[in-house]
Amino acid sequence: MSQIQLLPAVQALLSQPGRLFLGGTWQDAASGRRFVVENPATECALTEVAEGDARDVDTAVDAARTAFNGEWARQSPAQRGLLLLRLAELLDQHREELAQLITLENGKPIANARGEAASAANIVRYFAGWPTKIEGSTLPVSPASGAPMLNYTLREPVGVCALIVPWNFPLTMCVWKLGPALATGCVAVLKPAEQTPLVAIRLVQLIEAAGFPPGVVNLITGLGAATGAPLAQHPGVDKIAFTGSTQVGRLIAQGATSNMKKVSLELGGKSPNIILPDADIVRAAKGAADGIFYNQGQVCTAGSRLYVHASVLDQVLEELRRHANAHVLGPGLDPSSSMGPLVSARQLSTVSGYLQRGLEEGAELICGGGRPAHLERGHFIEPSVFLDRAERACIAREEIFGPVLTVMSWTDIDELVLRANDSPYGLAAGLWTRDLRSAHRVAAQLKAGSVWINCWNVVDPASPFGGYKQSGWGREMGKNVIDAYTETKSVFVDLA
Ligand code: NAI
Ligand code: MG
Repeated sequence: MSQIQLLPAVQALLSQPGRLFLGGTWQDAASGRRFVVENPATECALTEVAEGDARDVDTAVDAARTAFNGEWARQSPAQRGLLLLRLAELLDQHREELAQLITLENGKPIANARGEAASAANIVRYFAGWPTKIEGSTLPVSPASGAPMLNYTLREPVGVCALIVPWNFPLTMCVWKLGPALATGCVAVLKPAEQTPLVAIRLVQLIEAAGFPPGVVNLITGLGAATGAPLAQHPGVDKIAFTGSTQVGRLIAQGATSNMKKVSLELGGKSPNIILPDADIVRAAKGAADGIFYNQGQVCTAGSRLYVHASVLDQVLEELRRHANAHVLGPGLDPSSSMGPLVSARQLSTVSGYLQRGLEEGAELICGGGRPAHLERGHFIEPSVFLDRAERACIAREEIFGPVLTVMSWTDIDELVLRANDSPYGLAAGLWTRDLRSAHRVAAQLKAGSVWINCWNVVDPASPFGGYKQSGWGREMGKNVIDAYTETKSVFVDLA
């Protein structure tokens, strides 16, 4: 086992406690409290980070409001675009550092972490193009009085945005939200997940270096209940963008009613992946394996329900077994590892519980099912595949958020579409076929925010992303997200 060397900048970050960034200054929590950040591959502490509470949230929100009403409001759209471009460049320059931090605190293989860091720069670069293109319209109104009337709309930034993000893509989840917030002229209080605050700290250092005015981006690290909840309920917050569990999403939506915050939520999924009999089976099985095992299955869009046509079931199961067994589990800092640990002991316990329940409920274990014997430390779990003939096991219905695939077979396509849509979630869905007619017909019938045909997990900043049903509210990315961070003002001018 040979692991890559940590860069000096990473070592420096680990050598001292992480701090909050409030109104342009790095500071400890008002309470002086800190929490420990763990390396999930070793179960050792990486460092300590400030644990913010309601007082720090107040400071962050006040600083954001001051920036919103002050220097930030005077920056032109072109200046905002330039700052975002500078940030994208810095993200590229510091890609390896960011990747190492992602792997250290999240556990994912370093190659995937590098991909995440590269994607973060691209997303910021995409949003850098938006500030100069956010426009209103002139509208052909018909006043009853017959008076000549000019009507036009303006798009204005919503204001102070609370951005609450999870640990599974600890860098890209930050920029998915910061990108549109900054492009539209909003200000932000960013709350990373308690498992992965370090890459967020480095990101905010780069935001500072890019030259954003103080208070435009504030960082508050801490726990869900002590830090996230007061931020989500704060009367000075105008909008919340949240990615995480459906359970917390519900709390956030409830808390938002006090001052009618705008809310966008990106929540869980149990996404159906469908293999038609005419598909390229080898390619489809590889896509299905990657669709569930990527990021240790800790992906909101994981293709966790696989519906395989009965005529190709045996072949697909064989291929899935082969792909699962080919994974090399190990620390993400070892470039030969293709699968890292789960993020935490808690996540491991949840996923292990589902493996146990799958067996108890009569699903047939095809491969995996336990912890790898050769790894003594770390929250590792084997990539696992179940066949559930009855489709009644909870592993076929509930989000597991781990590398656990539940396979079911089908014969009738109309009935299959009903089964695929029979879920409280509607984040993603996919199908594998060579037949153009089936591809578009089924894609139109699936109740999901993203549908992937002969691919999986393709996400692009130009294309909207979000969920139907209990998978969320609103869309991120593309033109749609610009609407989510702006208010529309309608202006009437009587020309008589
Ligand atoms: P979570 O929803 O509790 O955490 C996500 C973020 O919300 C973190 O920053 C956390 O500190 C914050 N948070 C927690 N409680 C809060 C509250 N009351 N008010 C405001 N913010 C709060 O997710 P968790 O506990 O880490 O994972 C549990 C399950 O959630 C996973 O097993 C998975 O099923 C799902 N999940 C889904 C994600 C997605 O991408 N849609 C990402 C992470 C988790
Ligand atoms: Mg939680």
